[in-house]
Amino acid sequence: MVDRSPKASFVSHLECSRTGERTEHDRFRTVSNANAPLLVRYDLDAVANAISKEELARRAPDMWRYREWLTLGPDDEIVSLGEPMTPLIPLPRLRRELGGGEILVKDEGRMPTGSFKARGLALAVSMAKAFGVKHIAMPTAGNAGAALAAYCARAGIKSTVFCPDDAPEITIREIAYHGADTILVNGLINHCGELVAAGAQETGCLDLSTLKEPYRLEGKKTMGLELAEQLGWRVPDVIFYPTGGGTGLIGMWKAFEELGAMGWIDAKRPRMVAVQSTRCGPLVRAFDAGHEEVIEPWEPVDTKIHGVRVPKPFGGRLCLQVMRESGGFGSMVDDDEAVAARAMIARDEGVHLCLEGAACFVAYRQELKNGRVKPDDEAVLFNCASGLKAGLPPGGRHIDRAKPVDFAGHGVQNGSDNNSGRQGR
Ligand SMILES: Cc1ncc(COP(=O)(O)O)c(C=O)c1O
Repeated sequence: MVDRSPKASFVSHLECSRTGERTEHDRFRTVSNANAPLLVRYDLDAVANAISKEELARRAPDMWRYREWLTLGPDDEIVSLGEPMTPLIPLPRLRRELGGGEILVKDEGRMPTGSFKARGLALAVSMAKAFGVKHIAMPTAGNAGAALAAYCARAGIKSTVFCPDDAPEITIREIAYHGADTILVNGLINHCGELVAAGAQETGCLDLSTLKEPYRLEGKKTMGLELAEQLGWRVPDVIFYPTGGGTGLIGMWKAFEELGAMGWIDAKRPRMVAVQSTRCGPLVRAFDAGHEEVIEPWEPVDTKIHGVRVPKPFGGRLCLQVMRESGGFGSMVDDDEAVAARAMIARDEGVHLCLEGAACFVAYRQELKNGRVKPDDEAVLFNCASGLKAGLPPGGRHIDRAKPVDFAGHGVQNGSDNNSGRQGR
């Protein structure tokens, strides 16, 4: 079939998320004059005239099917590694056991470089290439750096990545393997961010920190567009999202607002739940205190759920706004419960979540128990990365091949490990 989609950008302008000040989209923009995240605004009537649901349904099942909702201009080349639509996987056994409504896992582990960071970086690096950027730097908990390194390799752009030195070893190696200058810092992601800003000042390289440019958010927005399309142009009752910097939370909300403004979905919106750790939960604390910003950075940050290790997110105000406007809330989970849940879900449902995804399940379970989630709510849990990125405990049993083999596996607990998920169920 011939793809007749106009390859034009429908961007009308960029808007300061704090003051509403408008800015032209004439070059790769970073933050607003008020040093706040910039939001991309579109001529949504023109988008609605350019594309129909039926036409969209005929397009290739990838994130670029939403091109009209993205910032790429007609002649801009997409830097792509093949970004598929990711599946919604039900957890029927756990649903029965917990007595709640439908639980759907949106499995972002299927994305290039094994995480949802591919969505934001595919678009941001495409825009950087379109605007002639030659060198990009970024702070990362691991997955974003891996995606940046891979997309920059693809685009022929130099990349420099600053990671906390306790980031998962596999992602550090992945970043270096894709050819980024990989710098390990004895500090947290905010310290890495300060170094990136200083480096950008000195060298003129582009700082691609979370929400310090408007494009990663637009790439992440495709999660919301895709989810609504997959559910037949409707939204679930509640979304659990492991929140560090918050681009996914903000991006999905933006997607629902845009689809609503176009009349593609009705007025219903999901309650957006920011999932964090009891060992780093600045958004949950600020939300519960009724604050509009994260005022104090969380201290000490000692969670092993790396994706949420952000003590004071730059986009904190926007995250809190989404939580409030959506009727959502924040939920802090215990790290050990997330570790146990990950093992239990792998064994009992065959779904291998990353720790952040498992944290969403723990949050769902605790909120169902305490009533903030209703038994008939349809919940979507975001598994933002492949479970294989999170490391595994040792497994298997050794045998002597000269001796009789216990083929039936008597006394063997399948898939068991030291982090058995039976507890905490
Ligand atoms: C696996 C995983 N989950 C969640 C997050 C948090 O994402 P966001 O920055 O959109 O809040 C990250 C970010 O590093 C991550 O790698």
